[in-house]
Amino acid sequence: MLVAIGGDKGSPGVTTATLALASAWVGPAIAVEADPAGGDLAIRLRSDGSALPEGPTVLSVVTAARAKRDDYSVRAYVHAFNATTGVIPGAMYAEQMVNVGDWTPLAEALRQCQSDVFLDVGHLHSASPMLSLAARADLVIAVARPDLTSVVRLRDRLARLALDLAQLRGAAPRLLPVLVTTSRHGSADVADLRRIIEDTPAKPFVVGCGFLAHDASAVRRLQSGDEPAGRLSRTDLMRTARQVNEIIGSLVGLAPATDSALTAGGQQ
Ligand SMILES: Nc1ncnc2c1ncn2[C@@H]1O[C@H](COP(=O)(O)OP(=O)(O)O)[C@@H](O)[C@H]1O
Ligand SMILES: [Mg+2]
Repeated sequence: MLVAIGGDKGSPGVTTATLALASAWVGPAIAVEADPAGGDLAIRLRSDGSALPEGPTVLSVVTAARAKRDDYSVRAYVHAFNATTGVIPGAMYAEQMVNVGDWTPLAEALRQCQSDVFLDVGHLHSASPMLSLAARADLVIAVARPDLTSVVRLRDRLARLALDLAQLRGAAPRLLPVLVTTSRHGSADVADLRRIIEDTPAKPFVVGCGFLAHDASAVRRLQSGDEPAGRLSRTDLMRTARQVNEIIGSLVGLAPATDSALTAGGQQ
């Protein structure tokens, strides 16, 4: 499974969502950071108290994938982060990402790898070099905040992405907007978003809506290597990540959605 996760101007949370969803996934998963603006995971993550090694990064993977080396395997480039999650961090600077040109071999490599992959594509728009990666994903998550500006931008962004991705795929894309909001307001924010999307050209492509809790202490603990199956699992961040994952699992045919996913996570 390949899930692409992107965002828009003014709506941070893509990298955190990628890490949280990968860590809350039902089985082993890899969080891959391919933000053309540069990565943060190599700086942020601490496993057993130490930072990730400087390499390999996503650049190492795309270079090997393009060369189609016989012994090539994505797994060789994955840093073990916690018991079930591997990480391939992005290159730190945009200047390093800009020379790659064609990113599609990365999508093919990630699709063929044994693990389920959550791919951070940064800000996703028509001019993004990562659009062709997102077009090859099983599902595209659009992360946004629940304030008016962000939701209006999300509504229009979904409509544009639907057209762009459909053209690249030659098939309808599946879009899943996910709001980063408080646990308390999550269900109401999702209901508002559904109403806002209702009469737009994006509607036929929006296969669900969900939310992730804004939960700074859980983000800190996750980044510093706390195990997702331990006490961290009871935090709002990881609880809502599991709910979004239930929606994802039902959409890509990996696991049936439970009632809690349909109501709390807010599938349409
Ligand atoms: N669900 C969340 N709860 C609390 N803080 C968050 C959450 N998502 C993002 N943040 C914070 O917002 C900032 C930007 O998040 P990040 O995931 O790096 O955004 P992006 O990848 O879209 O730039 C970080 O400091 C991060 O800790
Ligand atoms: Mg990021």
